[in-house]
Amino acid sequence: MILEYTLSIIKPNAISKHVIGDIIKRFENNELFVVGLKMMKLNFHQVLFIYNEHKDKLFFNDLLKFMISNPVVLLILEGYDAINRNRLIIGHTNPVYSAIGTIRKDYADSITENAIHGSASKEAANREIYYFFKQDEIYKNNISI
Ligand code: CMP
Repeated sequence: MILEYTLSIIKPNAISKHVIGDIIKRFENNELFVVGLKMMKLNFHQVLFIYNEHKDKLFFNDLLKFMISNPVVLLILEGYDAINRNRLIIGHTNPVYSAIGTIRKDYADSITENAIHGSASKEAANREIYYFFKQDEIYKNNISI
C-alpha cells in the first residue's frame, strides 16, 4: 500500500454539533493521522475553488451559502491508501445511502449539509491540500505503523 495524503473538511453543520473531536478520533482509530489542521471561515473564492466542477449545478448556491455560513475545520490526513480509506470512513455523499458507522450516517443533515468533505482522487487531494496549506504547515511522517 502507498502512503498518501488527503484533505477532509469538517463542514459547518458538524462544527455546530460539536463533533470535531469525535471525527478526528474516527480517523485516528483507523490509522489516518492528522498532519495539518486549520479552522477557518471559508469565503466565496475558496468554496468555488473546492467545488468548481459543481458551479453550474442547481444545488451550487445552497452549497455555497452553507459552506460560508460558519467555520470549517481543514484536516490533512496521512495514511496508507488514505484517499480511498478516508472516503469509506466518511460514507456516501447522500446520507440516505451512507453505511451504518460512517461519519455522514451519524452527522449529515442532508446531501448538501453532509457533515464532511473528502478529496475524491490523488489529483484533487494535492490540489486541495496545497491551496490551503503551505509546505511548512504540513508535518509529514506522523505514521506510527
Ligand atoms: P462533497 O463530498 O463535499 O462534494 C461535493 C458536495 O456537493 C457534496 O459533498 C455535497 O455537499 C454537495 N452535493 C453533491 N451532490 C448534491 C446534490 N445532488 N444535491 C445537493 N448537494 C449535493
